[in-house]
Amino acid sequence: MELDITPWLNMAVRWLHVIAGIAWIGSSFYFIWLDNSLRPEKSEKDKGVGGALWAVHGGGFYHKKKYVVAPAQMPDDLHWFKWEAYVTWLSGFALLVLMYYVAADLYLIDRAKLDLTNLQASGLGIAVLVAGWLIYDGLCRSPLKQNNAALGVVWFAVIIGFAYGLNQVFSGRGAVMHVGTIIGTAMAANVFMIIIPNQRKVVAAMLAGKAPDPALGIQAKQRSLHNNYMTLPVLLIMTANHYPLLFGNPYNWALLGGFSLCGMVIRHFFNRRHKDDVRYSLLIAGALIFIATMVFAAASQNGFRARPTGGSDAVPFATVKTLMTTHCTMCHEANPSYDGFDAPQAGLELDKDAVIKANAARIYEQVVVAQAMPLGNETGMTEAERALIANWADAQK
Ligand code: HEC
Repeated sequence: MELDITPWLNMAVRWLHVIAGIAWIGSSFYFIWLDNSLRPEKSEKDKGVGGALWAVHGGGFYHKKKYVVAPAQMPDDLHWFKWEAYVTWLSGFALLVLMYYVAADLYLIDRAKLDLTNLQASGLGIAVLVAGWLIYDGLCRSPLKQNNAALGVVWFAVIIGFAYGLNQVFSGRGAVMHVGTIIGTAMAANVFMIIIPNQRKVVAAMLAGKAPDPALGIQAKQRSLHNNYMTLPVLLIMTANHYPLLFGNPYNWALLGGFSLCGMVIRHFFNRRHKDDVRYSLLIAGALIFIATMVFAAASQNGFRARPTGGSDAVPFATVKTLMTTHCTMCHEANPSYDGFDAPQAGLELDKDAVIKANAARIYEQVVVAQAMPLGNETGMTEAERALIANWADAQK
Protein backbone atom coordinates (compact mmCIF):
# COMPACT_ATOMS: atom_id res chain seq x y z
CA MET A 1 0.00 0.00 0.00
CA GLU A 2 1.27 3.44 -0.90
CA LEU A 3 0.93 6.13 1.74
CA ASP A 4 0.79 9.72 0.58
CA ILE A 5 0.92 12.01 3.57
CA THR A 6 1.59 15.28 1.70
CA PRO A 7 -2.05 16.49 1.74
CA TRP A 8 -2.25 15.64 5.44
CA LEU A 9 0.91 17.58 6.19
CA ASN A 10 -0.67 20.51 4.41
CA MET A 11 -3.74 20.09 6.60
CA ALA A 12 -1.63 19.83 9.76
CA VAL A 13 0.21 23.08 9.00
CA ARG A 14 -3.06 24.82 8.09
CA TRP A 15 -4.67 23.65 11.30
CA LEU A 16 -1.71 24.82 13.36
CA HIS A 17 -1.89 28.16 11.56
CA VAL A 18 -5.56 28.61 12.43
CA ILE A 19 -5.09 27.55 16.07
CA ALA A 20 -2.10 29.85 16.62
CA GLY A 21 -3.88 32.64 14.73
CA ILE A 22 -6.94 32.39 16.96
CA ALA A 23 -4.73 32.51 20.08
CA TRP A 24 -2.89 35.56 18.73
CA ILE A 25 -5.96 37.46 17.61
CA GLY A 26 -7.75 36.53 20.80
CA SER A 27 -5.02 38.00 22.99
CA SER A 28 -4.71 41.05 20.72
CA PHE A 29 -8.44 41.75 20.94
CA TYR A 30 -8.44 41.09 24.65
CA PHE A 31 -5.58 43.44 25.49
CA ILE A 32 -6.84 46.28 23.30
CA TRP A 33 -10.26 45.88 24.93
CA LEU A 34 -8.59 45.82 28.36
CA ASP A 35 -6.58 48.96 27.66
CA ASN A 36 -9.64 50.80 26.39
CA SER A 37 -11.72 49.68 29.34
CA LEU A 38 -9.31 50.66 32.13
CA ARG A 39 -10.56 53.44 34.39
CA PRO A 40 -8.54 55.41 36.96
CA GLU A 41 -8.80 53.94 40.44
CA LYS A 42 -8.24 56.49 43.24
CA SER A 43 -6.92 54.07 45.87
CA GLU A 44 -4.15 52.83 43.54
CA LYS A 45 -3.00 56.11 42.04
CA ASP A 46 0.05 56.61 44.24
CA LYS A 47 1.32 53.11 43.39
CA GLY A 48 1.84 54.11 39.76
CA VAL A 49 -1.38 52.42 38.55
CA GLY A 50 -2.80 54.29 35.55
CA GLY A 51 -6.06 52.39 35.41
CA ALA A 52 -7.85 49.31 36.64
CA LEU A 53 -10.84 47.19 35.80
CA TRP A 54 -13.09 44.58 37.35
CA ALA A 55 -14.45 41.74 35.26
CA VAL A 56 -16.34 38.51 35.78
CA HIS A 57 -15.70 35.53 33.55
CA GLY A 58 -16.12 31.80 33.88
CA GLY A 59 -17.49 32.13 37.36
CA GLY A 60 -14.60 34.18 38.76
CA PHE A 61 -13.92 37.84 39.50
CA TYR A 62 -10.81 39.48 38.07
CA HIS A 63 -9.13 42.72 39.07
CA LYS A 64 -6.68 44.00 36.46
CA LYS A 65 -4.37 46.98 36.87
CA LYS A 66 -2.12 48.70 34.37
CA TYR A 67 1.02 50.49 35.56
CA VAL A 68 1.87 53.74 33.81
CA VAL A 69 5.40 52.64 32.91
CA ALA A 70 6.22 49.66 35.12
CA PRO A 71 5.60 48.53 38.70
CA ALA A 72 8.09 49.58 41.37
CA GLN A 73 9.32 46.00 41.69
CA MET A 74 9.73 43.22 39.20
CA PRO A 75 7.12 40.49 39.81
CA ASP A 76 8.50 36.96 40.27
CA ASP A 77 6.46 35.52 37.45
CA LEU A 78 5.77 37.60 34.36
CA HIS A 79 3.78 36.30 31.37
CA TRP A 80 4.87 37.25 27.89
CA PHE A 81 2.74 37.05 24.76
CA LYS A 82 4.81 36.23 21.73
CA TRP A 83 4.61 32.58 20.72
CA GLU A 84 1.08 32.98 19.35
CA ALA A 85 2.41 35.57 16.92
CA TYR A 86 5.57 33.67 16.02
CA VAL A 87 3.82 30.34 15.46
CA THR A 88 1.12 32.04 13.37
CA TRP A 89 3.72 33.62 11.12
CA LEU A 90 5.96 30.55 10.86
CA SER A 91 3.08 28.20 10.05
CA GLY A 92 1.64 30.77 7.63
CA PHE A 93 4.94 31.13 5.86
CA ALA A 94 5.28 27.34 5.65
CA LEU A 95 1.84 27.18 4.01
CA LEU A 96 2.76 29.95 1.62
CA VAL A 97 5.83 27.99 0.55
CA LEU A 98 3.96 24.67 0.36
CA MET A 99 1.12 25.99 -1.76
CA TYR A 100 2.15 29.12 -3.57
CA TYR A 101 5.87 28.57 -4.08
CA VAL A 102 6.20 24.79 -4.49
CA ALA A 103 3.10 24.77 -6.73
CA ALA A 104 3.66 28.30 -8.05
CA ASP A 105 2.57 27.37 -11.58
CA LEU A 106 -0.85 26.40 -10.23
CA TYR A 107 -1.57 29.03 -7.62
CA LEU A 108 0.75 31.99 -8.12
CA ILE A 109 1.72 32.35 -11.74
CA ASP A 110 -0.68 33.58 -14.39
CA ARG A 111 1.10 33.29 -17.70
CA ALA A 112 -1.44 35.54 -19.36
CA LYS A 113 -0.14 38.31 -17.09
CA LEU A 114 3.55 37.53 -16.75
CA ASP A 115 5.49 34.45 -17.75
CA LEU A 116 7.50 33.81 -14.59
CA THR A 117 9.38 30.68 -13.54
CA ASN A 118 8.53 29.18 -10.15
CA LEU A 119 11.76 30.55 -8.75
CA GLN A 120 11.17 34.07 -10.06
CA ALA A 121 7.60 34.13 -8.78
CA SER A 122 8.62 32.87 -5.33
CA GLY A 123 11.53 35.33 -5.16
CA LEU A 124 9.21 38.19 -6.04
CA GLY A 125 6.72 36.97 -3.42
CA ILE A 126 9.30 36.97 -0.64
CA ALA A 127 10.73 40.31 -1.80
CA VAL A 128 7.36 42.04 -1.41
CA LEU A 129 6.99 40.68 2.13
CA VAL A 130 10.32 42.25 3.09
CA ALA A 131 9.56 45.47 1.19
CA GLY A 132 6.19 45.75 2.91
CA TRP A 133 7.77 45.59 6.36
CA LEU A 134 10.54 48.07 5.47
CA ILE A 135 7.99 50.58 4.17
CA TYR A 136 5.65 50.19 7.13
CA ASP A 137 8.45 50.36 9.69
CA GLY A 138 9.86 53.41 7.88
CA LEU A 139 6.45 55.13 8.07
CA CYS A 140 6.25 54.38 11.79
CA ARG A 141 9.65 56.02 12.32
CA SER A 142 8.85 59.06 10.11
CA PRO A 143 7.12 62.20 11.44
CA LEU A 144 3.85 60.39 10.64
CA LYS A 145 4.28 58.48 13.88
CA GLN A 146 2.78 61.47 15.70
CA ASN A 147 -0.54 60.90 13.97
CA ASN A 148 -1.94 57.38 13.89
CA ALA A 149 -4.82 58.32 11.59
CA ALA A 150 -2.55 59.88 8.95
CA LEU A 151 -0.13 56.98 9.24
CA GLY A 152 -3.02 54.57 8.79
CA VAL A 153 -4.21 56.34 5.64
CA VAL A 154 -0.73 56.25 4.07
CA TRP A 155 -0.10 52.59 4.96
CA PHE A 156 -3.56 51.69 3.64
CA ALA A 157 -2.72 53.42 0.35
CA VAL A 158 0.59 51.54 0.17
CA ILE A 159 -1.23 48.23 0.68
CA ILE A 160 -3.75 48.99 -2.05
CA GLY A 161 -0.78 49.93 -4.26
CA PHE A 162 0.75 46.53 -3.55
CA ALA A 163 -2.58 44.85 -4.29
CA TYR A 164 -2.88 46.64 -7.62
CA GLY A 165 0.74 45.98 -8.59
CA LEU A 166 0.70 42.33 -7.58
CA ASN A 167 -2.50 41.76 -9.51
CA GLN A 168 -0.66 42.82 -12.66
CA VAL A 169 1.95 40.08 -12.25
CA PHE A 170 0.42 37.25 -10.20
CA SER A 171 -2.79 35.24 -10.49
CA GLY A 172 -5.69 36.95 -8.71
CA ARG A 173 -5.53 34.41 -5.94
CA GLY A 174 -1.75 34.69 -5.57
CA ALA A 175 -1.93 38.50 -5.56
CA VAL A 176 -4.64 38.64 -2.90
CA MET A 177 -2.83 36.09 -0.72
CA HIS A 178 0.37 38.11 -0.91
CA VAL A 179 -1.40 41.26 0.23
CA GLY A 180 -2.54 39.31 3.29
CA THR A 181 0.94 38.00 3.95
CA ILE A 182 2.46 41.50 3.60
CA ILE A 183 0.13 42.74 6.34
CA GLY A 184 0.55 39.59 8.45
CA THR A 185 4.33 39.83 8.16
CA ALA A 186 4.27 43.45 9.31
CA MET A 187 2.12 42.41 12.28
CA ALA A 188 4.43 39.55 13.31
CA ALA A 189 7.50 41.73 12.78
CA ASN A 190 5.93 44.35 15.02
CA VAL A 191 5.92 41.75 17.79
CA PHE A 192 9.36 40.34 17.00
CA MET A 193 11.27 43.52 16.17
CA ILE A 194 9.59 46.18 18.32
CA ILE A 195 7.15 45.05 20.99
CA ILE A 196 9.10 42.18 22.56
CA PRO A 197 12.58 43.85 22.34
CA ASN A 198 11.14 47.02 23.92
CA GLN A 199 9.59 45.02 26.72
CA ARG A 200 12.92 43.28 27.28
CA LYS A 201 14.66 46.66 27.55
CA VAL A 202 12.12 47.83 30.15
CA VAL A 203 12.60 44.65 32.18
CA ALA A 204 16.40 44.91 31.92
CA ALA A 205 16.31 48.53 33.12
CA MET A 206 14.17 47.55 36.09
CA LEU A 207 16.44 44.66 37.03
CA ALA A 208 19.39 47.06 36.85
CA GLY A 209 17.56 49.35 39.25
CA LYS A 210 17.15 52.13 36.64
CA ALA A 211 13.99 53.93 35.60
CA PRO A 212 12.74 52.44 32.29
CA ASP A 213 12.32 54.79 29.33
CA PRO A 214 8.55 55.45 28.90
CA ALA A 215 9.08 55.94 25.13
CA LEU A 216 9.70 52.20 24.78
CA GLY A 217 6.27 51.35 26.12
CA ILE A 218 4.60 54.04 24.01
CA GLN A 219 6.20 52.74 20.81
CA ALA A 220 5.21 49.14 21.61
CA LYS A 221 1.67 50.22 22.41
CA GLN A 222 1.36 52.04 19.09
CA ARG A 223 2.47 48.95 17.12
CA SER A 224 0.10 46.80 19.14
CA LEU A 225 -2.76 49.15 18.25
CA HIS A 226 -1.82 49.02 14.55
CA ASN A 227 -1.89 45.23 14.72
CA ASN A 228 -5.40 45.38 16.09
CA TYR A 229 -6.63 47.30 13.03
CA MET A 230 -4.69 45.11 10.60
CA THR A 231 -6.22 41.90 11.95
CA LEU A 232 -9.59 42.03 10.21
CA PRO A 233 -8.26 42.67 6.68
CA VAL A 234 -5.83 39.78 7.15
CA LEU A 235 -8.62 37.46 8.28
CA LEU A 236 -10.69 38.49 5.29
CA ILE A 237 -7.82 37.74 2.92
CA MET A 238 -6.99 34.41 4.52
CA THR A 239 -10.55 33.24 3.95
CA ALA A 240 -10.79 34.88 0.51
CA ASN A 241 -9.48 31.63 -0.97
CA HIS A 242 -13.04 30.45 -0.72
CA TYR A 243 -14.29 33.40 -2.72
CA PRO A 244 -13.14 33.20 -6.32
CA LEU A 245 -15.66 36.00 -6.88
CA LEU A 246 -13.35 38.22 -4.85
CA PHE A 247 -9.89 37.19 -5.99
CA GLY A 248 -10.96 36.48 -9.58
CA ASN A 249 -12.41 39.96 -10.09
CA PRO A 250 -10.11 42.15 -12.23
CA TYR A 251 -10.67 44.89 -9.63
CA ASN A 252 -9.82 42.58 -6.73
CA TRP A 253 -7.47 45.25 -5.35
CA ALA A 254 -10.36 47.72 -5.08
CA LEU A 255 -12.64 45.11 -3.53
CA LEU A 256 -9.95 44.28 -0.98
CA GLY A 257 -9.68 47.97 -0.19
CA GLY A 258 -13.43 48.34 0.30
CA PHE A 259 -13.93 45.23 2.41
CA SER A 260 -10.82 45.94 4.50
CA LEU A 261 -11.95 49.49 5.15
CA CYS A 262 -15.30 48.14 6.28
CA GLY A 263 -13.52 45.79 8.72
CA MET A 264 -11.35 48.56 10.13
CA VAL A 265 -14.25 50.97 10.58
CA ILE A 266 -16.16 48.30 12.49
CA ARG A 267 -13.08 47.59 14.62
CA HIS A 268 -12.87 51.32 15.31
CA PHE A 269 -16.50 51.34 16.44
CA PHE A 270 -15.73 48.68 19.05
CA ASN A 271 -12.46 50.26 20.17
CA ARG A 272 -14.30 53.55 20.80
CA ARG A 273 -17.21 51.84 22.44
CA HIS A 274 -14.90 50.25 25.00
CA LYS A 275 -13.86 53.78 25.91
CA ASP A 276 -17.55 54.61 26.46
CA ASP A 277 -17.60 56.58 23.22
CA VAL A 278 -20.41 54.85 21.32
CA ARG A 279 -20.64 56.06 17.74
CA TYR A 280 -23.27 54.21 15.76
CA SER A 281 -22.37 56.34 12.75
CA LEU A 282 -19.24 54.17 12.44
CA LEU A 283 -21.33 51.00 12.23
CA ILE A 284 -23.55 52.60 9.61
CA ALA A 285 -20.46 53.74 7.67
CA GLY A 286 -19.06 50.19 7.83
CA ALA A 287 -22.30 48.74 6.50
CA LEU A 288 -22.50 51.33 3.70
CA ILE A 289 -18.90 50.65 2.66
CA PHE A 290 -19.68 46.92 2.56
CA ILE A 291 -22.77 47.45 0.42
CA ALA A 292 -20.99 49.84 -1.95
CA THR A 293 -18.11 47.37 -2.40
CA MET A 294 -20.53 44.52 -2.99
CA VAL A 295 -22.48 46.45 -5.62
CA PHE A 296 -19.25 47.46 -7.34
CA ALA A 297 -18.06 43.83 -7.29
CA ALA A 298 -21.27 42.52 -8.80
CA ALA A 299 -21.37 45.25 -11.47
CA SER A 300 -17.73 44.90 -12.48
CA GLN A 301 -17.74 41.13 -12.75
CA ASN A 302 -20.62 41.25 -15.20
CA GLY A 303 -18.91 43.80 -17.36
CA PHE A 304 -15.57 42.08 -17.57
CA ARG A 305 -16.21 38.37 -17.79
CA ALA A 306 -17.15 36.18 -20.67
CA ARG A 307 -20.92 36.30 -20.88
CA PRO A 308 -23.31 34.10 -22.78
CA THR A 309 -23.12 35.16 -26.40
CA GLY A 310 -26.89 35.27 -26.53
CA GLY A 311 -28.31 33.69 -29.70
CA SER A 312 -30.68 30.80 -29.73
CA ASP A 313 -28.12 28.04 -30.31
CA ALA A 314 -28.22 25.86 -27.26
CA VAL A 315 -24.82 24.39 -26.45
CA PRO A 316 -25.12 20.59 -26.70
CA PHE A 317 -24.00 18.61 -23.68
CA ALA A 318 -21.48 16.74 -25.83
CA THR A 319 -19.59 20.03 -26.33
CA VAL A 320 -19.47 20.65 -22.61
CA LYS A 321 -18.32 17.10 -22.01
CA THR A 322 -15.45 17.59 -24.49
CA LEU A 323 -14.45 20.81 -22.75
CA MET A 324 -14.39 18.98 -19.42
CA THR A 325 -12.18 16.24 -20.88
CA THR A 326 -9.80 18.78 -22.41
CA HIS A 327 -9.58 21.20 -19.51
CA CYS A 328 -10.75 19.60 -16.30
CA THR A 329 -10.55 15.85 -15.91
CA MET A 330 -6.74 15.86 -15.60
CA CYS A 331 -7.42 17.08 -12.05
CA HIS A 332 -11.07 16.15 -11.62
CA GLU A 333 -11.47 12.40 -12.07
CA ALA A 334 -11.05 9.36 -9.83
CA ASN A 335 -7.37 8.97 -10.79
CA PRO A 336 -6.22 12.37 -12.06
CA SER A 337 -3.36 12.31 -14.53
CA TYR A 338 -2.07 15.62 -13.22
CA ASP A 339 1.23 15.13 -11.44
CA GLY A 340 0.90 15.21 -7.67
CA PHE A 341 -2.90 14.81 -7.54
CA ASP A 342 -4.17 11.36 -6.70
CA ALA A 343 -7.79 12.07 -5.86
CA PRO A 344 -10.47 14.09 -7.68
CA GLN A 345 -9.86 17.69 -6.65
CA ALA A 346 -12.68 19.20 -4.59
CA GLY A 347 -14.24 15.72 -4.79
CA LEU A 348 -15.52 16.46 -8.30
CA GLU A 349 -15.34 13.73 -10.95
CA LEU A 350 -15.98 15.78 -14.05
CA ASP A 351 -15.73 12.76 -16.33
CA LYS A 352 -19.20 11.74 -15.10
CA ASP A 353 -22.21 13.27 -16.90
CA ALA A 354 -24.34 13.37 -13.76
CA VAL A 355 -21.63 15.17 -11.79
CA ILE A 356 -21.15 17.78 -14.54
CA LYS A 357 -24.89 18.46 -14.72
CA ALA A 358 -25.38 18.57 -10.96
CA ASN A 359 -22.55 21.08 -10.63
CA ALA A 360 -23.48 23.43 -13.48
CA ALA A 361 -23.75 26.43 -11.16
CA ARG A 362 -20.42 25.77 -9.44
CA ILE A 363 -18.69 25.19 -12.76
CA TYR A 364 -20.17 28.43 -14.06
CA GLU A 365 -18.89 30.34 -11.05
CA GLN A 366 -15.38 28.88 -11.24
CA VAL A 367 -14.93 28.92 -15.02
CA VAL A 368 -16.91 31.93 -16.19
CA VAL A 369 -17.26 34.43 -13.37
CA ALA A 370 -14.08 34.04 -11.35
CA GLN A 371 -12.02 32.26 -14.02
CA ALA A 372 -10.29 30.40 -11.18
CA MET A 373 -10.58 27.10 -13.11
CA PRO A 374 -8.82 25.46 -14.89
CA LEU A 375 -6.39 26.07 -12.06
CA GLY A 376 -3.53 28.31 -13.20
CA ASN A 377 -5.20 28.03 -16.64
CA GLU A 378 -2.85 25.10 -17.16
CA THR A 379 -4.70 24.04 -20.28
CA GLY A 380 -5.02 27.49 -21.84
CA MET A 381 -8.81 27.67 -21.89
CA THR A 382 -10.02 30.49 -24.17
CA GLU A 383 -12.69 33.14 -23.61
CA ALA A 384 -14.76 31.55 -26.38
CA GLU A 385 -14.68 28.21 -24.58
CA ARG A 386 -15.68 29.90 -21.32
CA ALA A 387 -18.59 31.52 -23.17
CA LEU A 388 -19.76 28.07 -24.30
CA ILE A 389 -19.82 26.93 -20.67
CA ALA A 390 -21.66 30.13 -19.75
CA ASN A 391 -24.33 29.50 -22.40
CA TRP A 392 -24.78 25.92 -21.33
CA ALA A 393 -24.88 26.69 -17.60
CA ASP A 394 -27.40 29.51 -18.17
CA ALA A 395 -29.70 27.07 -19.93
CA GLN A 396 -29.55 24.69 -16.93
CA LYS A 397 -31.11 27.22 -14.58
C1 HEC B 1 -4.51 21.70 -12.62
C2 HEC B 1 -5.56 21.08 -11.89
C3 HEC B 1 -6.99 21.55 -12.11
C4 HEC B 1 -7.63 21.74 -13.31
C5 HEC B 1 -7.08 21.58 -14.72
C6 HEC B 1 -8.99 22.10 -12.99
N1 HEC B 1 -9.16 22.14 -11.63
FE1 HEC B 1 -10.88 22.57 -10.62
N2 HEC B 1 -9.91 22.39 -8.87
C7 HEC B 1 -8.58 22.06 -8.72
C8 HEC B 1 -8.24 22.11 -7.31
C9 HEC B 1 -6.88 21.83 -6.71
C10 HEC B 1 -9.43 22.48 -6.62
C11 HEC B 1 -9.60 22.65 -5.11
C12 HEC B 1 -9.80 24.08 -4.75
C13 HEC B 1 -8.55 24.87 -4.77
O1 HEC B 1 -7.65 24.61 -4.00
O2 HEC B 1 -8.50 25.83 -5.58
C14 HEC B 1 -10.44 22.63 -7.63
C15 HEC B 1 -11.75 22.99 -7.35
C16 HEC B 1 -12.77 23.08 -8.29
C17 HEC B 1 -14.13 23.36 -7.99
C18 HEC B 1 -14.72 23.57 -6.62
C19 HEC B 1 -14.52 24.98 -6.16
C20 HEC B 1 -15.31 25.29 -4.94
O3 HEC B 1 -14.68 25.66 -3.95
O4 HEC B 1 -16.53 25.18 -4.98
C21 HEC B 1 -14.82 23.38 -9.18
C22 HEC B 1 -16.30 23.62 -9.39
C23 HEC B 1 -13.85 23.12 -10.21
N3 HEC B 1 -12.61 22.94 -9.64
C24 HEC B 1 -14.15 23.06 -11.55
C25 HEC B 1 -13.21 22.88 -12.54
C26 HEC B 1 -13.54 22.88 -13.96
C27 HEC B 1 -14.93 23.03 -14.53
C28 HEC B 1 -12.37 22.71 -14.61
C29 HEC B 1 -12.16 22.69 -16.10
C30 HEC B 1 -12.67 23.80 -16.84
C31 HEC B 1 -11.31 22.58 -13.63
N4 HEC B 1 -11.87 22.68 -12.39
C32 HEC B 1 -9.97 22.35 -13.93
C33 HEC B 1 -7.69 21.73 -9.71
C34 HEC B 1 -7.96 21.81 -11.06
